[in-house]
Amino acid sequence: MHMHKFEKIWLIFGVTALIVFLSTIGVSAFYLGNKPPSCLTTINPNKVDQTAPFNKPGLHKVEGKDWDYDLVYVAQTFAYNPTVVKIPLGARVRIVATTKDVVHGFEVAGTNINMMLEPGYVSEFTKTFNKAGEYLIVCNEYCGAGHHLMSSKIEVIK
Ligand code: CUA
Repeated sequence: MHMHKFEKIWLIFGVTALIVFLSTIGVSAFYLGNKPPSCLTTINPNKVDQTAPFNKPGLHKVEGKDWDYDLVYVAQTFAYNPTVVKIPLGARVRIVATTKDVVHGFEVAGTNINMMLEPGYVSEFTKTFNKAGEYLIVCNEYCGAGHHLMSSKIEVIK
């Protein structure tokens, strides 16, 4: 079979690129253990207020875990509960959040915390707060007329 030189080059390039991409994903997934954010934890969105830990939103000290505090948030149009949280400097915090109605965002400005909160699912993010100051939590998923008013605050204090 006759193949043009450029066709061969492009074929080799394409196959090589494919191998590189698949290897990258393979190493990332199986060696480094990276995986997409899980949606494995589900919740009845109509019974959020009665379901632990969402029956007690706020900061809770935990023992015997890889993190120091659970920080529980319940989102609904157009607010987060709690509205202000004080976290001791250096604390490792597992943020656990869900929504009672529609999809909301959960972005902590100036950090790498950025979650989507979906009705029926629990979102988690664990983070060490090493810098004192105020952190604004904003909703970055359009959720209705009051979307731009939806915010909360974390104060990291010494
Ligand atoms: Cu909640 Cu936008």
